[in-house]
Amino acid sequence: MAEIQTKNKVHGFSDASDKDVIAMESKSGAHHYGRVELVVRKTEGAWLYDADGNKYLDCLAAYSAANQGHHNPRIVKAVSDALNNNYGSVISNVVYTDSLGVFLDKAANLAPQLAPKHGNNGNKVLPKNGGVESVETAIKMARYYGFKEKGIEDGNQEIIVFNNNFHGRMITTVSFSTTEKYYKGFGPRTPGFVSVPYGDIEAVKKAINKNTCGILVEPMQGEGGMYQPPAGFLKGLREIADKEDIILLFDEIQVGLGRTGKMFCFEHENVIPDGLILGKAISGGLVPLSVFITNAKLMDLCFQPGQDGSTYGGYPLACVAGNAAIDEIVNEKLADRAAEVGAVLKKKIEAVAAKSSHVKEVRGRGLFIGIEVNNGDAMHYCHKLLDMGMLCNDSHGHTIRISPPLVITDEEVDYIVERLEKVLVD
Ligand SMILES: Cc1ncc(COP(=O)(O)O)c(C=O)c1O
Repeated sequence: MAEIQTKNKVHGFSDASDKDVIAMESKSGAHHYGRVELVVRKTEGAWLYDADGNKYLDCLAAYSAANQGHHNPRIVKAVSDALNNNYGSVISNVVYTDSLGVFLDKAANLAPQLAPKHGNNGNKVLPKNGGVESVETAIKMARYYGFKEKGIEDGNQEIIVFNNNFHGRMITTVSFSTTEKYYKGFGPRTPGFVSVPYGDIEAVKKAINKNTCGILVEPMQGEGGMYQPPAGFLKGLREIADKEDIILLFDEIQVGLGRTGKMFCFEHENVIPDGLILGKAISGGLVPLSVFITNAKLMDLCFQPGQDGSTYGGYPLACVAGNAAIDEIVNEKLADRAAEVGAVLKKKIEAVAAKSSHVKEVRGRGLFIGIEVNNGDAMHYCHKLLDMGMLCNDSHGHTIRISPPLVITDEEVDYIVERLEKVLVD
């Protein structure tokens, strides 16, 4: 039973009891997520509420989708204004919409000039509906570049990825996963990928051949266990990509948009990719939206009418949310906030870890912190934390993930630390 903070009944979407909600889902829903026993009825800022008004500090933030805080009032206002003023509905992609134009311009200018060696042409953005779709867009772009610019025979293009990668759940992305439960039984696996150890530059060099057209990497691994690669790794990838004329793609779906204390995680190493994939917080947690961004010249080379598309990709409501979501990160300086609060939180967690026999390692940057536990069973601790009013889950089984919305206050940091101390210190 969660620790009771308030005892006000919360009126959610329906009057169905928690028991009935869980029963309906297990009867009628695919069981593709293992859920903890919490039915959320309301969200606000860093908090989730159940029907009895019990509060849970959200240390998962929908895997970084809720960076701006749940129901961020400015993003909610933008979305509700759109719905109340007849400019939210999906519109056929054969005409222009002002919300898309404004959003594309904002997203293109958010990143530095990508693939600068191809010229100072500005960036262009291709919008989709969810992270994995933009990962696929990025893969298409690298393959097409290999075919068109490097003369690789179509069908032979190869992309280097990394062990324990996570880029989403569709056929191609699970095909190059190294985690058996993600791919086993879903074959045939999409060819054209080679996986090497994360952080191992020599292995990348060895994997390159005449058909290599791209390198796809998470600047920090999220689902793979909250790992930061060794210093110089991203720079090393950049050097290889430049030397071999390979497209370097950074998947910042989870670690971009302020999460690690910089707008983009690649800024920690001062390395500019050729293509950038963003999702989750790009729409402030209210509607699905994702983007692939690259140098305008490369985007034009790879995508002309007919070569890509999506009915809802970049539809007005998503773009309205996207505009407000980017403004919120920039105007509220959420990356700086993540850096400051994250440094304090990490230090306090390290102090807890120093007194604990359960903790193997604390790692992370900004508000992207992992606590690896000795028994390899992070969920054992997450269940206890839930009972104390804090939602966390595991990363790769062995690591407790602490990644709250970037708007958390100093008091909320102490709330997290007090509970971790109770659970991790004997
Ligand atoms: C690094 C990374 N790439 C891709 C994805 C897939 O995003 P989506 O679930 O929106 O398809 C995720 C989701 O967690 C992710 O963390």
